[in-house]
Amino acid sequence: MALSLRTSTPLCEPALLGLIDACFERVGRESELARALAAGDPHFDAGLSLVGELEGRAAGYALFLPRRILLCGSFVRLAALSPFATLPEARKRGLGNFLLQTGFQALRDRGMCGMVALGPSAFFGRHGFASAFNLYTTEVRLADLPEPDPAPWRGLRVDDLPRLRELMHENYAGVTGTEERSIAALDWESPIESGHTLVLERGGRPCAYLHFRTRGELELRECAAATAADVRSLLGFLARLLREHGRTRVDLHLPPQHRVARALFHRGSAQVSSNFRGAAMLCICDWKALFAATSVHWLRTLAAAGVDELSLGIDGEAYRLRARRGALQVDQARVERRHLELPPGHAPAFLTGQRDWRDLDPSCAEPARHLFPGGTPMWSYAPVFGLADE
Ligand SMILES: CC(C)(COP(=O)(O)OP(=O)(O)OC[C@H]1O[C@@H](n2cnc3c(N)ncnc32)[C@H](O)[C@@H]1OP(=O)(O)O)[C@@H](O)C(=O)NCCC(=O)NCCS
Repeated sequence: MALSLRTSTPLCEPALLGLIDACFERVGRESELARALAAGDPHFDAGLSLVGELEGRAAGYALFLPRRILLCGSFVRLAALSPFATLPEARKRGLGNFLLQTGFQALRDRGMCGMVALGPSAFFGRHGFASAFNLYTTEVRLADLPEPDPAPWRGLRVDDLPRLRELMHENYAGVTGTEERSIAALDWESPIESGHTLVLERGGRPCAYLHFRTRGELELRECAAATAADVRSLLGFLARLLREHGRTRVDLHLPPQHRVARALFHRGSAQVSSNFRGAAMLCICDWKALFAATSVHWLRTLAAAGVDELSLGIDGEAYRLRARRGALQVDQARVERRHLELPPGHAPAFLTGQRDWRDLDPSCAEPARHLFPGGTPMWSYAPVFGLADE
């Protein structure tokens, strides 16, 4: 079976739009996402837009979009893998794997640590990916919300974006999986008809925003607010949206420590968390680059555990972490006295906090509880990805 690859983009080769539609067996969703990212995402890298060929004919496409995503307290260079698909008649011949392996190598060459993906865990799980991010849902009904105040909500403007970026980073601080946002409109404005980003302005300055869409019910994927008064205005505005859209419920997907999620908690709303059936995944393709990018975390946790070196066993490899004169040194060696073996296939979940020291053998509790304290990981992706998720 002759497999080959080339780089190309939907902008310079419009026929790729038809290929992507045929791969996903639907028109204008993932193809439009690829086109929008190629046209308007400042991080788009044409060298990571791969066309897979079978016997010389285009039969698959994979886009690795460079992002910076919060892991272990630092923004780490990872790619978001989307869209990624092969033609139905070309499947199970190794083309998907070929696209992935080529992508891994291209990311390593660029000093990137790995990638995130949403998709079938049966396939991705066999290619180095592991469930790593959760889904949090708070179902809120009209009776749970305050009455709307006259706060002036309006549509998004380009000059709002720097302030929205600040608000987003403030509200999602410490939430593993948060993407660093650019000030490109694509990172904020929903391209789908049922999706909207609205802004609350006070004193000439944005002080809250929300991104919602209407499906069966109202769905709020992301929001941020500067103060408790702005949180209250936001909740009141949700009541107004429910009435205007004739819906009975809004489903909020916010991590538990988010200011708005906490306000709802104190109003008595229940939040449900799940591992998203393992569908939100992370793959680290260069562990050394990952440790270097998150060295502050490892230095701090080694100090907290009172050790200056230890090794981690990750899928058959041993990585030795050493604190030397305030810097982290990493090489591939095993420290017999202090070796912590992570369960095969789950290392990414320990990084994000989906799993923690309590998931390890009790004999490892010290130093594991310092290294892997756990958390509330949620991958927050830009509204443009709503195109594929309509
Ligand atoms: C996921 C997807 C991209 C995989 O593409 P693919 O071209 O079938 O990938 P591969 O051929 O490399 O691997 C598929 C399976 O076929 C098997 N396979 C590969 N070569 C094979 C061969 N010569 N003979 C038999 N089986 C083979 C692989 O082992 C793999 O099995 P596994 O899933 O049990 O590991 C494809 O199924 C697809 O496009 N799905 C719809 C879109 C989607 O879900 N995308 C991901 C989220 S955006």
